[in-house]
Formats: sequence, C-alpha cells, structure tokens
Amino acid sequence: MKHKKKPKGSVVAALDIGSTKIACFIARIIDDEGNYNVLGVGHQAALGIKSGRVVDMAAAEAAIRHTVHTAENMAADALKGFPLRDVVVNVSGNLANSFSYNVDVQVSGQEITDNDVRRALAKAQDEAYSDDTELIHTIPIGYRIDGNDGIKEPRGMYGDVLEVNTHLVTSDVSSLRSMASCVESSHLDIEALCLSSYAAGLACLVEDEMDLGATVIDMGGGTTSISVFNGGNMIFSDAVLLGGQHVTTDIAKGLTTSIASAERLKNLYGHAMGGTTDGSEMIDVPQLGEDHQGQVNHVPRSLLIGIIQPRLEEILELVRAKMEMSGLGTHLGRRVVLTGGASQLHGLRELSQHVLNKQVRLGMPIRTSGLPDAVNGPAFSTTAGLLTYLSERSDEMPAEILAQVEPASAWERVKFWLRENW
Ligand SMILES: Nc1ncnc2c1ncn2[C@@H]1O[C@H](COP(=O)(O)OP(=O)(O)OP(=O)(O)O)[C@@H](O)[C@H]1O
Ligand SMILES: [Mg+2]
Repeated sequence: MKHKKKPKGSVVAALDIGSTKIACFIARIIDDEGNYNVLGVGHQAALGIKSGRVVDMAAAEAAIRHTVHTAENMAADALKGFPLRDVVVNVSGNLANSFSYNVDVQVSGQEITDNDVRRALAKAQDEAYSDDTELIHTIPIGYRIDGNDGIKEPRGMYGDVLEVNTHLVTSDVSSLRSMASCVESSHLDIEALCLSSYAAGLACLVEDEMDLGATVIDMGGGTTSISVFNGGNMIFSDAVLLGGQHVTTDIAKGLTTSIASAERLKNLYGHAMGGTTDGSEMIDVPQLGEDHQGQVNHVPRSLLIGIIQPRLEEILELVRAKMEMSGLGTHLGRRVVLTGGASQLHGLRELSQHVLNKQVRLGMPIRTSGLPDAVNGPAFSTTAGLLTYLSERSDEMPAEILAQVEPASAWERVKFWLRENW
C-alpha cells in the first residue's frame, strides 16, 4: 500500500517512555518521502515507570516534563518560541495485544476504490472494538478479491467481494489512561500511539528486510519485544517481560553488590557466552554497603558471565517460543535484527544466532539525520522509529481510518458518528 506522508516542513515530535529511560526527539520533515532531520533531543533515566506501566504518577510526570523541556530548548529556533504541542508516544509491548483479523465488504462488481479499502479496515476496527481496549494500529497485510488471494494492491481492480487480512494492535485502556495523563500534564497532545517494537523495526530495518521477512528483537530494560515484518508491513508482534534490568539484578544478587555496580560490571566486563575467558581473569566487585574505595571482592570474570548467560538464554528461549507459536513459519524470514539498549552486551549477537538459529545482525536507527552521537545508538531505535511512523505511516492510525471513510449505508454512518462522538 502507498502510504500518505506528512508534508515537508512539518515539525514532529516523539516521546519514548521506556522502563529505564525517557527520550524525546523533535524533528523537521525535510522532503516528500517523510525523511526528517532531528532538531532537539532530551533523555533521562525513567522514574515512576515499570515495564512500560506508570507506577508513580508524580515522578513520571516530572521526568517527562524535564525530558521534553530539554528537547524543546535545543529545538527552540525551529519552534519559534512556541511550546511543543503534539507528540507521538510509544506503547510498550507489555501493554499491547496483537492479532490478525479478516473482514470482507461488498463492492458489487465495481472498481475497488480507496474508500472500499477504508470501509473494510473500519469494519475490522468496529468488530475488534470493545470498551476496555484501545486500538493502536490497523495494518492491512493482504487482500483477496472474490476468493483470489495474493493481491497486494486492490485499488483499481474489479470484483464483488473484497476481503482484507489485517494485523490489529490493541492496548488496555486503563494503563493507557495513566500514561496519557502523565503526558498531558506537560501540556502535550498525543497525536498518535505506536507500539514500541513496531517503531524499532521502522527505525532499523532496510527496505529489503521489511519486504522479504525479518524479525526485530528490541531488548530494553524491562521488556524484550518482537515484531515481524514481511511484504513491507508488520505482520506480528509480541513481547517477553524480561530485559537488561533482570540481568543487572541477577548480577547484584549473585555478587552481593549494588545495582549501580552490577550495571557497570555488566557493561564493562559482561559477555553473553561462557568460554570467552578462562578462570584466571579477575574483576573487582565493590561490596554491598561499602562506600570506601578498596572494599572489594576479587572474583573471576567467568563467575560474572556465568550469571549473565543463563538469564539471556532464558529470554532468548522465550522469544524463540513466541516466534514458534506465531505459526508464521517461513514468513518469519531468516534474518533477525537485534536492537535496544541491552543488545549492546558483548556476545549477545552470537548467543542469539545460536539459540534462534537465524542470521542475526545488530540494528540501530538508520533513517535519521541530525542525531547527536549520544542518542544514535540501539537504545534509541524506538524513539527514532516513532518519528518514522508519524511521518510515513500515519494512515495506519485507527482514528485516521475512521475519519476518512465514507460509510456505504445510513446505518454505518450512524455507527461511525456514534463512535466519533463517544
Ligand atoms: N553497553 C551496554 N551493555 C549491555 N547492556 C547495556 C549497555 N548499555 C545499556 N544496556 C542495558 O540496556 C537496557 C536499557 O535499554 P533501553 O534503553 O533500550 O530500555 P528502555 O527503552 O528504557 O526499556 P523498555 O524498552 O524495556 O521499556 C538496560 O537494562 C541497560 O543495562
Ligand atoms: Mg524501549
């Protein structure tokens, strides 16, 4: 499907609320393809958030406000003194559900128009709708006309019945409300919501990977989320509620040291696979509760790696099980792109290759210009991808589909009116 792009010159902003950090990017669309140039960035440690869910409103609000202000100040020239208004915000895989859904609409032998496609998508949305869920994405992934499948672009073709296979992503309303209220307290309007792993894929994958089939694994602090792309679309998404933070906590417990020391040891000496060091290499582990320099335990580095490896294996095995349960088979593709802050652990690519039995490469944002070095790494894939979503794929937003459909019947008109107003 050809996507409608945001107009050149528009200023767009993304807010990525993660379990370990909050990041905000402000950018300007620089051409008709939806490419953008980043003008302002802000990021800081996440407070009041656990696995994508707000657990302390006041702390989360303050962290969001501070992050957004930093980005606004840096982009002050472009904003011309106006505060930022609209943002696209991520939805953690932890809060989302995703499923495929088939619907059909009558086209009575006529040429299939854009509106017929929208009618079908709106029908899928209507049937998937419930009071306690919010629709995040409606992605058309395949069409059939009068039972003939494999149709990529039905517009302009003729038939009696148009069937659309959609991938729908929903989230639970109450968790979203708390998050939205934190964002809105910074005087921001949520222009769009986007699943974190979808954004990560939009940021990291090259076009061929999106077309031919690739699985993106975004290993963050509290969540490892999965999205599968094929035929240019996201066709599946899921998440495992474990991430880099769990590895850090295991180290802190296993070596009786603080979380901060465990994090540092992981990043400096950690490795995903044993056998990379013999038993003779020693590292210094500050003892818990000892503030003075020198109060350290000398432990073999292999002990640290022995703590890290089983946890990562557990996470990757859960990811593999989710991939197998998806039933996608060869649609998963041979390629895995590993991203997210936790993907930086040495040896993780090799371990993933071994556990998942796929070709694995490391991914980071590739469609973004103007990103300062501090924020162009894999931890910011989701943040960058939120901008790509807004600039290139906003036609997959459920509200956009509803707003533009012309209902075929009076009853459908009434239903849409009710939906829009309530
Ligand atoms: N150099 C490094 N080596 C290993 N792990 C690292 C490194 N740098 C960061 N990490 C880990 O990355 C994780 C944070 O990743 P990221 O910023 O992608 O998470 P997040 O977006 O805040 O969380 P989530 O997406 O789960 O809500 C932390 O657990 C941190 O320990
Ligand atoms: Mg994240």
